[in-house]
Amino acid sequence: MLSQIKDLAETLAPRLIEIRRHIHAHPELSGQEYQTAAYVAGVLSSCGIQVKEAVGKTGVVGNLQGNGSDDRILAIRTDMDALPIQERTNLDFASRKPGIMHACGHDVHTTVGLGVAMVLSQLAEALPGNIRFLFQPAEEIAQGASWMVRDGAMRDVNAIFGVHVFPSIPARSVGIRYGALTAAADDIEIFIQGESGHGARPHEAIDAIWIASQVITALQQAISRTQNPLRPIVLTIGQISGGRAPNVIADQVRMAGTVRSLHPETHANLPQWIEGIVANFCNTYGAKYEMNYRRGVPSVQNDLFLSQILEEASREAWGSDRVQILTEPSLGAEDFSLYLEHAPGSMFRLGVGSGDRLNHPLHHPEFEVDESAILTGVVTLAYAAFKYWKQR
Ligand code: NI
Repeated sequence: MLSQIKDLAETLAPRLIEIRRHIHAHPELSGQEYQTAAYVAGVLSSCGIQVKEAVGKTGVVGNLQGNGSDDRILAIRTDMDALPIQERTNLDFASRKPGIMHACGHDVHTTVGLGVAMVLSQLAEALPGNIRFLFQPAEEIAQGASWMVRDGAMRDVNAIFGVHVFPSIPARSVGIRYGALTAAADDIEIFIQGESGHGARPHEAIDAIWIASQVITALQQAISRTQNPLRPIVLTIGQISGGRAPNVIADQVRMAGTVRSLHPETHANLPQWIEGIVANFCNTYGAKYEMNYRRGVPSVQNDLFLSQILEEASREAWGSDRVQILTEPSLGAEDFSLYLEHAPGSMFRLGVGSGDRLNHPLHHPEFEVDESAILTGVVTLAYAAFKYWKQR
């Protein structure tokens, strides 16, 4: 099966590069992927795949029927949105839309998803179960996955694979991660209400700035003294405002920040734990507080069995020297985690780094990929799909 998949993918490679360049030249912002979605739906239909549009607003779902010997459904998820960045590459196929750019490789993801659909549609009779292709909108604003799930995209799905490009891994290589891949990312906002007074008479006032400074210090210290250091938390207060004049004690402070964590239990307890610290200081010094804790996406926890399938598929396809087992997660966030609330899954990193030129990071206006990665992504996922049914 591997050699058939490789032959098909190699034959399709020039077409896939055309597709990727077309998508790259026509980027669309999160939630506005109308042309991309129509384009994706067109390619899927031309492979004889049953297509549903407008799933999760601008998402597309493709269903590929296998031969029916297994009733399980394997989902393959890719994302389609671009970023509000002015592209500064000199590519022939650079963005034709001012201020919008595929700077996170979602053009490559969409192309890989289409490539897998093209390859597997030609091997459908050998596929035991069904494949559901999820082309998701709005990943960059961490909304698209929840829209797709709400519209039933994960109904009856038994397992899901995802992929994200990674510039620090060389092209033609892949990175496999067991366990936590990305962090849970929540937003926090804290208001502290004291009492204003003369800067020279602190005993007649409740100094909200001083209390806020205590709270920030206490939170950072409490992470190191009360939380398991093997379950990391990063708490960044990125905004703070309060006070009206140098000699007037501030009665109000607003702080806002982001809270990242990797362990699901840690994540579950964060709001209560933070509020306890805020409440203690405010009570001690007579201030009032209000805390708004907005949960973002949870941490992506890659399933061990499915990660193993990805690892074996890529080792067989590319040889062990092109497979990296990633020893560290990232504290970035990825809404792939929302699918994992409905089925186990694994997301791997697709190397797009190029040896002979500077690798700009994701979200950089000069971000470029080595397009040979497309073939690597297509073969890895298509072959892993076959292995999924074989090994269960
Ligand atoms: Ni991305």
